[in-house]
Formats: sequence, C-alpha cells, structure tokens
Amino acid sequence: MKKLIIILSLISQSMFAQNVNYDEAKIPPYTLPDILTGVDGKKITTIKQWEANRPALLQLFAENVYGVTPNISAKHHYKILETKNDALNGKAIRKQVLITFDEYPQLSGINILLYIPKNVTRPPVFVGLNFEGNHSIGIDPYVLLTQNWMVDFQKNPERVNNNRALEASRGKAIVESWPAEMIIDKGFAMATAYYGDIEPDHPEGWKSGLRSAIGMTDDQKWSAMGAWAWQLSRMLDYLETDADLNSKKAIVIGHSRLGKAAFWAAAQDQRFAAFISNESGEGGAALKRRWYGETHEIINDKFPHWFSGKYKTYSNNIASLPFDQHQLFGLIAPRPVYVTSAEGDQWADPNGQFLSLKNAEPVFALYGKKGLGTDTHPALNQPAGSYIRYHYRTGKHDMNAYDWEQYLKFAKEVVNK
Ligand code: GCU
Repeated sequence: MKKLIIILSLISQSMFAQNVNYDEAKIPPYTLPDILTGVDGKKITTIKQWEANRPALLQLFAENVYGVTPNISAKHHYKILETKNDALNGKAIRKQVLITFDEYPQLSGINILLYIPKNVTRPPVFVGLNFEGNHSIGIDPYVLLTQNWMVDFQKNPERVNNNRALEASRGKAIVESWPAEMIIDKGFAMATAYYGDIEPDHPEGWKSGLRSAIGMTDDQKWSAMGAWAWQLSRMLDYLETDADLNSKKAIVIGHSRLGKAAFWAAAQDQRFAAFISNESGEGGAALKRRWYGETHEIINDKFPHWFSGKYKTYSNNIASLPFDQHQLFGLIAPRPVYVTSAEGDQWADPNGQFLSLKNAEPVFALYGKKGLGTDTHPALNQPAGSYIRYHYRTGKHDMNAYDWEQYLKFAKEVVNK
C-alpha cells in the first residue's frame, strides 16, 4: 500500500512538473498581438489614435480576465479614527481613516493607515494594499488591529488564529513590504489598507465581501482582483481630500497578488500617477503566452476567485486570447512604470515580466518616452531604464529594502522631478 501511494504521488508530481516549466529553451514559440494595432484592427501611429483605442482595449481586459467593474454607487463617509503628529520617532504624522459606504453597511469599510513626513509640504504618496493588516507592517503600537477575516499565511496560531489576527502579529508581516520610516525619510508619504477589508481572499469570500454587498449573485462576472482594484481607487478618493499630501502624485504599488490588483487599478484609474509592479507574475506583469513558471491554468485552478469566469475558458488555448499583458502596460502609458523580479521567484517568470514591459515600449514612444535601453534581460541587481524601469534582484519572493531603495529613487527622479 505504502509503495502504491509513493508511486501515485510520483506520477502526480511528474504530471504537475509537466505543467510548470523553468527552462527557457522549452518555451514553445508564441506571437504577441501587435500593440500598435487597435481593437478595430486599424494601425495606430498617433497618441490620438492610441487614446481613442483605450476604452475598447480596457474593455477586452475586463471581459476576458478581471471582470467588468460594475457601475456602482461609492457614496461614502470618511472618519478619522486616530491621528498623531509624533509617529515614527517624531518624524511623521499618522492618520487612520475609515471609509464606510452608505449603501453597503454590511462591509466594515476600508481602514487606511497613512504616514506623512512632517518636514515636507504636500509630499507624493505611495498607495497600496497589504496582506495581513495595517498593524502587521510595523511595530507602531497605535496602529489598529484588523478584525477582518485573514488568510493564515504564516501557520502560526499565536499570530493568526481562526483566520483572525492577534496582537502578536503586530510588525510580523510575512512579506517585508512597507518600510514606513525609510519612505518618510526620503520625503514621501504612504497609505496602505488591508486587502481583506473589501473582500476575504478565498473562493467563497465574495459572499461576505463587496461583490455580494452590491447585490451580485454571479461571482464569475467580476472578480476579487476587480474588487481589490476598486478598493485602491476608493483609497485614492480619500487621498484627494487630504490637503497634507499631493494626491496628483499617487504611486500605486503592490507585491504579488496585490501587484496584480494594483496593475488593474492603475490601468483603469488614470488618476494614479505611476505604477510599480513588485513580482506580480501571472495575471500581473508576466506575459501569458510564455510557458514559464505559473500559468493561467494553474492560477485559475488554485485561485478561482481571483479572475472572472471567462478567463477560465482559455485553458489550453491561451493563444486565442486577443491580447497579452504588454498591452496592459500600454494602458498605463504615458505614466511611469517600474517592474521588478527576483532570482528566487521564478514562479513569477522574470523574463516574461521584462518582455511584457519591453513590448509596451512602442506606446511609451508615441508619447516621446524612452524605453528600457536594453533588448535582453538585465543582470542581477542592475536596474535598467529610467522612465520605465526594470530590475532583477537577488533574494526571494518579497518586497524588500533593495526594492524600496530603487522605488524611492525612481519616485524622486521620475515622478517627483
Ligand atoms: C501564489 C500565486 C501567485 C501570487 C502569490 C502571492 O504564489 O500563485 O500568483 O502572486 O501567491 O500573492 O504571493
């Protein structure tokens, strides 16, 4: 019996291994849709033509991958839950703002944690979601502990028990993600919220999240990714009302699944001034047509709630998808973009992320913006490009201090120049 189990598990492992490729030489040839051909099939040579094509292209992404964002009421109230001007060793103002929605009282609302440097007038702001609650990003004892449902990422019942965060998880986020003091020291503000504030991250999560609150009965039409992108836009609505920062310079940023959400938010909502994709991989920066690391089949199988139902119909047939992710980068243009990969995160397909941004260059060129300055994937720890940038760093799947050093440089040189 034991032998049989071992044989069966070897067979299933090898079947799985066939689905995941980490060998560049084994990638079957693929052709990317031409980024300068409009959805109507006409050639694009001017900014005007590109911008006229924008809504139809966005709609294609919505219908086929992220779901169409419903036209819902976002009537809301802001409540400052707490504010102090001696945060982060006296260098920052801390605000905790709750956004509640008049028509969706069943939602607890979005709780934004904001740090603003005291010595800068109206600084630009990094905006993004976090994985385990605002309290998890740092040791600040005044940051409120989230009460909302949470994925048990760490498998440590002293930190997260029964899918609820405990005090012991303060400052113990699984990803480094948000180095508040480092951001403040460079003269930038930051705003973050827990992604589970709007929808719990599991296949049934939509039943107690935004999608059911707005009366949706078909969870396959929209998606969790769509709901989290919506959350980012609602955070920006608040930031626009806050005179202590410059919301015209809001840089939307996200790691991994939260990078996918940030990408979709940036594509739809042109108020975001720049976008940073930290290892967002499949469904984010990576090209879908490249068979390397995570594929659309694997992601749809494991996370059926992340994308719309239609995306699942492309199993074994990704070449029939009428676009690829380079075109989503086109939809960010002419705003600056930074894309990153890590050596220890082949799952996210580093070269596929690079090539995706690379193949968006013709759209940036329409606006007179320079490309990455290289046709080949850069070496480790050597950022390439300027206005659009890319780096491949040593280390694991994370958003770490090296990443932030580059982001802060990018923000200073390109976004806040
Ligand atoms: C999984 C998933 C990835 C995702 C990642 C994360 O590994 O397969 O697509 O980016 O989780 O969010 O950390």
